[in-house]
Amino acid sequence: MKPPLPPSSTSLALRKARLSPYFYTLLTFIVFVFMLYCEDLLSIFGRNELVLSKPVSKTGKKKETKNFVDDIVGRNNYESINKSVIVEGTFVPPKIETETRPKPPFAIGETAEGCDIFSGRWVRDELNRPHYEESECPYIQPQLTCQEHGRPDREYQKWRWQPHGCDIPRFNATLMLESLRGKRMMFVGDSLNRGQFVSMVCLLHRVLPPHAKSMESNMDQSLTVFRAKDYNATIEFNWAPFLLESNSDNAIVHRVAERMVKKGSINKHGKDWKGVDVLVFNTYLWWMTGQKMKFLKGSFNDERKEIEEFTTEEAYRVAMKSMLKWVKKNMDRNKTRVFFTSMSPLHIKSQEWGGQAGGNCYNETSLIEDPNYWGSENKEIMRVIGEEFRKSKYPITFLNITQLSSYRKDAHTSIYKKQWSPLTPEQLANPVSYADCVHWCLPGLQDTWNELLFTKLLFPN
Ligand SMILES: *[C@@H]1O[C@H](CO)[C@@H](O)[C@H](O)[C@H]1NC(C)=O
Ligand SMILES: *[C@@H]1O[C@H](CO)[C@@H](O)[C@H](O)[C@H]1NC(C)=O
Ligand SMILES: *[C@@H]1O[C@H](CO)[C@@H](O)[C@H](O)[C@H]1NC(C)=O
Ligand SMILES: *[C@@H]1O[C@H](CO)[C@@H](O)[C@H](O)[C@H]1NC(C)=O
Ligand SMILES: *[C@@H]1O[C@H](CO)[C@@H](O)[C@H](O)[C@H]1NC(C)=O
Ligand SMILES: *[C@@H]1O[C@H](CO)[C@@H](O)[C@H](O)[C@H]1NC(C)=O
Repeated sequence: MKPPLPPSSTSLALRKARLSPYFYTLLTFIVFVFMLYCEDLLSIFGRNELVLSKPVSKTGKKKETKNFVDDIVGRNNYESINKSVIVEGTFVPPKIETETRPKPPFAIGETAEGCDIFSGRWVRDELNRPHYEESECPYIQPQLTCQEHGRPDREYQKWRWQPHGCDIPRFNATLMLESLRGKRMMFVGDSLNRGQFVSMVCLLHRVLPPHAKSMESNMDQSLTVFRAKDYNATIEFNWAPFLLESNSDNAIVHRVAERMVKKGSINKHGKDWKGVDVLVFNTYLWWMTGQKMKFLKGSFNDERKEIEEFTTEEAYRVAMKSMLKWVKKNMDRNKTRVFFTSMSPLHIKSQEWGGQAGGNCYNETSLIEDPNYWGSENKEIMRVIGEEFRKSKYPITFLNITQLSSYRKDAHTSIYKKQWSPLTPEQLANPVSYADCVHWCLPGLQDTWNELLFTKLLFPN
């Protein structure tokens, strides 16, 4: 595997040889900040869009006669032609276990033993993808509606994830809703988790008649709730980019000069997670400041602030420990399930996949075919997650979507999204300069994350 350039382990010699990894980290940071703030402003101007449930008008799309093409990315081309495609529709849940190992809540079957559903390849599937049309789901934020904003191709919608060792069941919205009857599912984290939340809502809402569903946000947008009335079920999103209390907690205006997190403050957001039956956490991007992370010891209102600094990895470990401790104390493992989604990868530097210097995800329509491709995601963070989760007494289901998503340089919103201010002639002349290579188009990649979530929830192994 390609080393991901962890700043801590880069030797001095290396540092000299490359043009400073710090420069790159800084650049990455600037792009993050830009993207994240972009989103804030958008949520100010576009805040009603998520709340209103008026369906977007259909743009006269004709269903083309779909040609079945099964083109495979990666290795083992031929053997999967048979297997993968046919199996999807006819997935038979393996026999339900009756003895010994207590089944986790929500489980109704199992995935083949020992199968890592996150290790696999992307398979072209014109027949069964996408799960829904962009114009059929009124809940997608204008930052993620790529077709509406002029994306010329749709190829990014037509890929299905095929694990190497087994098959995953086709997402079944009715079954998912049945499982959530009388229950609450909540996504907690940043804008990427909001994307996964919206994807889940889009996957489910189609089987509900118009009067049987609603989408609402509270005043400060910290909580958004989709309700499936006949099922008495909710799918919710809670804005908590660090999970801990921070000075970026305002869901609309979280633009701050210097990010700061408060120590031992998990209960600030945690009080909103109590009583939830399925929790799906994420947190990553906001920790990647390229600088030491500042931890506040007192209160944000204190005149004189007592601050402690941590490296990114140390800081992230503190957050993981707090989250796991909170879960152990507040959740009942016989009733609730807790998921954690790994880092969502970026594609802001074409050279990482052998592209031309100066490029990014803009104009990318193909997938990365190197099965070992990793990109620049922080492997130290992955290590910290692994170490802390292994120690956890409460079983956390890890959605390890980093690598499978890293192949998808084609799936970002790029320039096809609502812009928060008019673009300058300079920007227009150079689309790479304003392409969003952080967030993902919907329908698209994040639907796969939810298929994997569906699999782990109902058919864990
Ligand atoms: C497809 O499946 C059939 C029967 O299941 C098998 O005989 C055949 O070898 C398979 N073909 C490929 C290309 O795997
Ligand atoms: C989806 O799940 C429902 C409820 O369990 C079931 O009745 C239905 O047959 C399933 N649909 C498919 C396509 O498997
Ligand atoms: C609806 O679901 C909530 C949990 O989300 C539960 O407390 C309540 O009792 C349920 N109501 C009915 C009528 O089933
Ligand atoms: C959870 O269930 C197991 C048996 O399935 C039982 O031994 C244990 O006491 C239960 N724990 C709680 C907190 O209810
Ligand atoms: C986009 O990529 C194609 C090749 O895939 C290339 O021919 C075209 O010039 C590129 N367009 C821009 C604007 O970079
Ligand atoms: C997640 O998957 C990657 C490979 O895709 C692997 O290197 C990493 O160890 C996994 N992380 C955990 C915590 O299991």
